[in-house]
Amino acid sequence: MKVLGIETSCDETGVAVYDTGRGLLAHTIHSQVQMHDEYGGVVPELASRDHIRRLLPLVEETLSRASTHRSELDAVAYTRGPGLAGALLVGASVATALAHGLHLPAIGIHHLEGHLLSPLLSAHPPSFPFIALLVSGGHTQLMRVAEVGDYKLLGETMDDAAGEAFDKTASLLGLPYPGGPALAALAEDGRTGQQGGGYSFPRPMLAQLQRERNLDFSFSGLKTAVALAHKQTFPSNQQAALPGMKADIAAEFQQAVVDVLVAKAMAAIEYSNLRTLVVAGGVGANRALRAALDAAAAARGYEVHYPELALCTDNGAMIAFAGALRLLGNKPGHASIEGFSVRPRWDLADQKIPA
Ligand code: KG4
Ligand code: ZN
Repeated sequence: MKVLGIETSCDETGVAVYDTGRGLLAHTIHSQVQMHDEYGGVVPELASRDHIRRLLPLVEETLSRASTHRSELDAVAYTRGPGLAGALLVGASVATALAHGLHLPAIGIHHLEGHLLSPLLSAHPPSFPFIALLVSGGHTQLMRVAEVGDYKLLGETMDDAAGEAFDKTASLLGLPYPGGPALAALAEDGRTGQQGGGYSFPRPMLAQLQRERNLDFSFSGLKTAVALAHKQTFPSNQQAALPGMKADIAAEFQQAVVDVLVAKAMAAIEYSNLRTLVVAGGVGANRALRAALDAAAAARGYEVHYPELALCTDNGAMIAFAGALRLLGNKPGHASIEGFSVRPRWDLADQKIPA
């Protein structure tokens, strides 16, 4: 069975064709990063308009790269939420119209379900059940994944998401948008704690983990700690004066985020009596996070699975794949050819699939 996947929840237009027999046949992404760059963040209206411009040509290109005619498709999957309402509507309306014209089911996929199933597309896929650490620009969650469609929330952020903390901190340090990769690159040149400029940022919510097994996160205080340190280091705002110090701030910030994510992910596995961790979402591309998770898991005899780097950030492949798994398991989820709706706010745990 062949499924066309369409992702338009934020600032990437992603399209893919997944074949349940042959795997991923093609996937294409158009990133709007350059367009939003001058505003320092995603402008929702511009995002929607760009999805409108890009989506149909990208569908044509992806089908051609997959050597697939649209008459060979078995379903069209699209991101139904969460995300920017206008951006979601573009993908949902195109997907539903295509499906309607071709007499196929249109399957509305939860964006985070796409992310958390994406490591199953890799050469060595994990097996169920597992713990998923979802770390994106909008979400930071630990989930227990029993099978496709069965997700239990174990912990989540109380304020900023991990990616959001990276982006906001990067902006504080004067780095270009999107901040995550830029801050990670700067951190490679820095040193943490006493080895560096002596910066010591909090590890938020770690005490609660030890005291009450709390698996929630909080990252907004870290941003404030960075703002203070930055102000003390660069009182006259001469950002270029001490580049080494800036790298040290970046390194200590990154280490604080990594320490918390690793400790909570390991605890979630232990408390659930499982052995497998799946990491998904844009921050999952972070090299320091991967190295620390690999080391902590190896020390405990756990396995860690990541999506391929190209599939860490938003893409159509994860949506096509999630749609295909739902078709295969006869769990179409939110399928319809009658009409559609999007869910800009949507809990992943709220995924009970009709029997
Ligand atoms: O999953 P994603 O592509 O989009 C959302 O659904 O949010 O994640 C994007 C987030 C952004 O905040 C970006 O700065 C962050 O992932 N990110 C990174 C890295 N690459 C992307 N954060 C830290 N280190 C990276 N290497
Ligand atoms: Zn995402």
